[in-house]
Amino acid sequence: MTIKTDNAEGVCRIEIARPEKKNALTVAMYQQMAEAIAAAHEDGSVRAIVLHGQPDIFTAGNDLEDFMKNPPAGMDAPVFQFMMALGLAEKPVLVAVNGAAVGIGTTLLAHADFAYCADNAMFSMPFVSLGLCAEFGSSLLVPLAAGYHKAAEKLLLGEPMSAEEALEMKLVNRILPPGEVLEHTLRQARRFNALPPASVRETKRLMKAGWRSLTEKIIADEAQTFAHLLKSAEAKEAFNAFFERRKPDFSRFQ
Ligand code: COA
Repeated sequence: MTIKTDNAEGVCRIEIARPEKKNALTVAMYQQMAEAIAAAHEDGSVRAIVLHGQPDIFTAGNDLEDFMKNPPAGMDAPVFQFMMALGLAEKPVLVAVNGAAVGIGTTLLAHADFAYCADNAMFSMPFVSLGLCAEFGSSLLVPLAAGYHKAAEKLLLGEPMSAEEALEMKLVNRILPPGEVLEHTLRQARRFNALPPASVRETKRLMKAGWRSLTEKIIADEAQTFAHLLKSAEAKEAFNAFFERRKPDFSRFQ
């Protein structure tokens, strides 16, 4: 099982468990996570959802091989189902990050309600280096959180972010020692057991209402652009370079 789920003490825990591939995410894994969020939604005993990875890796992002074989086709693709389930979840979503959070692993933070990370966490959105573009609202939400110029370093140049920088950019709430991140996140999630669920739901909805329609518009534009770029020669060069363990060469492109 590469996605493990568990419900206890009012919290639905979704664990990404594919350490041999650095928790790279496949279509099947997105599907399972989308279903787990939907089930948490239906389950009245669940007050909050916690997403986490392994003690030394959150996720290496999209599985690049799977990405080439099964490119996301429109809004029905499991990756969309997962991100929409996460972004539109009525219940609070908390994320615990240990180790690297690459690509969608960083993008999804902008949709979570709370994010906690280890001091060894490393974030990156290397979409441009992969011949792709920002996804799932990050072209709007990252500049909104961190300011345009900082976001440009991270989205245009793909510069990695340390835990401190992610905190400065308001992508995470707090940095903790690696061994404490998950427990702290679960403790925060369990606090919702003592709060009135309808008030939590409505307050969350209102907090996101201001830019919801704009976010949805940007997500649709990003999705179309991303799907187009995924078929490009630039992306092919970038993906081949990763698997051939060499630097990509974009010098022939205009
Ligand atoms: N897709 C498919 N396979 C991946 C992967 C990905 N995104 N990330 C890692 N893997 C695989 C590697 O191919 C390797 O497989 P192998 O053992 O069969 O050769 C295995 O996972 C271990 O990866 P490795 O790169 O050796 O681990 P590392 O600790 O040196 O580096 C990362 C970890 C996350 C920094 C590095 O794997 C990485 O940069 N991955 C790609 C990230 C990326 O570009 N993601 C896409 C974002 S859209």
